[in-house]
Amino acid sequence: MFGRKKKEQDFHVDDRLRSLAIIMDGNGRWAKKRMLPRSAGHAAGAARIEPVLETLRRIGVHHVTLYAFSTENWKRPREEVDAIMDLVYKYLDEVVIEKIKRDDTFSMKFLGDKSVLSEKLRNKCIEVENMAADREFVCNVALNYGGRDEIVHAVNSAIADGITTLTEEDISSRLYTSHSPDPDLIIRTGGEFRVSNFLLWQSAYSEYVILDTLWPDFGDKEIMKAVRAFYGRRRRFGGLNKEETLKK
Ligand code: FPP
Repeated sequence: MFGRKKKEQDFHVDDRLRSLAIIMDGNGRWAKKRMLPRSAGHAAGAARIEPVLETLRRIGVHHVTLYAFSTENWKRPREEVDAIMDLVYKYLDEVVIEKIKRDDTFSMKFLGDKSVLSEKLRNKCIEVENMAADREFVCNVALNYGGRDEIVHAVNSAIADGITTLTEEDISSRLYTSHSPDPDLIIRTGGEFRVSNFLLWQSAYSEYVILDTLWPDFGDKEIMKAVRAFYGRRRRFGGLNKEETLKK
């Protein structure tokens, strides 16, 4: 047992896994199982973020993208939306700002249209982004984010720049994620096999790992499970493996 734990402590990813994204699903079910309000599930979910980021950073991941609130999540009851937004504000104000001050390798950016957020939250997001630019570790938080909305936004921006025939690069460079590489691995907790409008463009060749674990229960064991599954995959990016090419 000790041997395995020690091995996991020493584990390091390589260049195949520098960018990872997570669909943090299952907060509501976690709360329901405990007969708690859904907001308690979101609070428990928020509490998992920092330890997960720390482990991912320790093993050598440089870009982590978290799906916090989608363009569709506004359809939820008002009190739940308010609870999530309050939680995000509090988390930025109390946890993230302190972390950025303490640790000069950490930064946070927000993906999505900030204009519909409350002024207070929008300003907090901008403050957090401005505190740390170009740092070694980037945590992207998708907030009021939708993959389709992002592509439309990028195309409109290219049109505004006078481009009439678009290339892939014209779109990629105008996505909210233009500062981060496409995710090598996307983990979805909560057991659902859905993309949910997340990183539609960027996930063209990402590996997906779906875990039944609910987000508030997600920890180091689940990270290692997902990473092991990732390294068990053969990524071909539409081509052939080396051995298959040689066989021909
Ligand atoms: C999905 O679970 C989760 C959300 C829509 C909210 C995610 C928010 C957090 C983890 C906390 C706040 C974020 C930050 C950055 C501090 P669900 O509610 O759909 O769960 P269910 O499928 O079990 O109902």
